Amino acid sequence: MFITPQEAAEQLKAGKVVALPTETVYGLAASLTKPLAIAEVFRLKGRPQDNPLIVHLSSAKELDKYLAGGTPPSLLELTKRFWPGPLTLVLPIREETIPESARANQPTCAFRVPDHPQIREVLSLAGALVAPSANLSGKPSPTSAQHVMRDFGQQVPVVDGGCCSQGVESTILAYKDDQWFIARLGMLPPESFLTTLGYQPRSLSPDALLCPGSRYKHYAPGAKLILGRTGYAQEAEVVIGFADRCYPRAKLVLSLGNSSAPLSALQNLYHVLRQLDEKKISIAWVDFEMPPAGHWLTVRERLLRAAQQ
Ligand code: TXA
Ligand code: MG
Repeated sequence: MFITPQEAAEQLKAGKVVALPTETVYGLAASLTKPLAIAEVFRLKGRPQDNPLIVHLSSAKELDKYLAGGTPPSLLELTKRFWPGPLTLVLPIREETIPESARANQPTCAFRVPDHPQIREVLSLAGALVAPSANLSGKPSPTSAQHVMRDFGQQVPVVDGGCCSQGVESTILAYKDDQWFIARLGMLPPESFLTTLGYQPRSLSPDALLCPGSRYKHYAPGAKLILGRTGYAQEAEVVIGFADRCYPRAKLVLSLGNSSAPLSALQNLYHVLRQLDEKKISIAWVDFEMPPAGHWLTVRERLLRAAQQ
């Protein structure tokens, strides 16, 4: 069922769960003040309880309500430069301000100010919202209202905001041992932070992960994905590749766009992965020849995780 932003705000205030568009992917939203609705978000997604949620705010000014003293350096500069937008910040909080279930009992919470007119309208009417990606846990994230409906059917009303302009989740930065680290690659590549921070944040090593939830399987279609750099597997009639390259033996090519356009690849990625399920494809060969730099880092990381069986 489709609803308007105003109806979504009313439902959220009444303790219901709704799906909302953001510029990255659709989110499955509940009010931060409604613990039962937050529990319902975990249930609907089949999400492990130890995987915390991102709190979505309408502006950076609202952060003050939640933060513990001693906020990290460059916080103001980061929020000024990147909010609203696809950046999530993991910050130390006063624990009583965020329900335990939303932050999976961590002493920190992840925050972002999204940049899509419809979720911004809902935030202004209904206040702070938790919103994980609106997909069943482990599956590719949704970048259209139709994707959300395929995962949740009539269980969740959706505000239809069209196709997400960015297509992959926000980049998550966390502050640890006196510096900012990338806790999840996303729409903003590591070098985007160079000017604001004075250094390029490194990725947290897997054993230093702040968040226990990060170890779960992610972004995976039902199909087996073979990541290849040269030639392609005989048995794979389906190729995930680029519009400007040739795959003579392929019966079906699902295109990520042009091989010189990483932003198109990010925007198309989840739609392509979801098409594998819709078309009931069991095996696909992925053209993995893309540079390990910039926005391509995120495309590579998502494909690597999607290929994990
Ligand atoms: O673009 C996005 O960020 C989308 C849209 C809907 O805003 N949201 C999203 O949420 O990707 P979700 O729940 O699918 O991913 C949130 C990630 C998870 O990997 C979770 O483990 C991590 O954020 N996270 C949340 N709170 C954290 C915390 N306190 N410390 C470390 N990681 C945290
Ligand atoms: Mg997700």
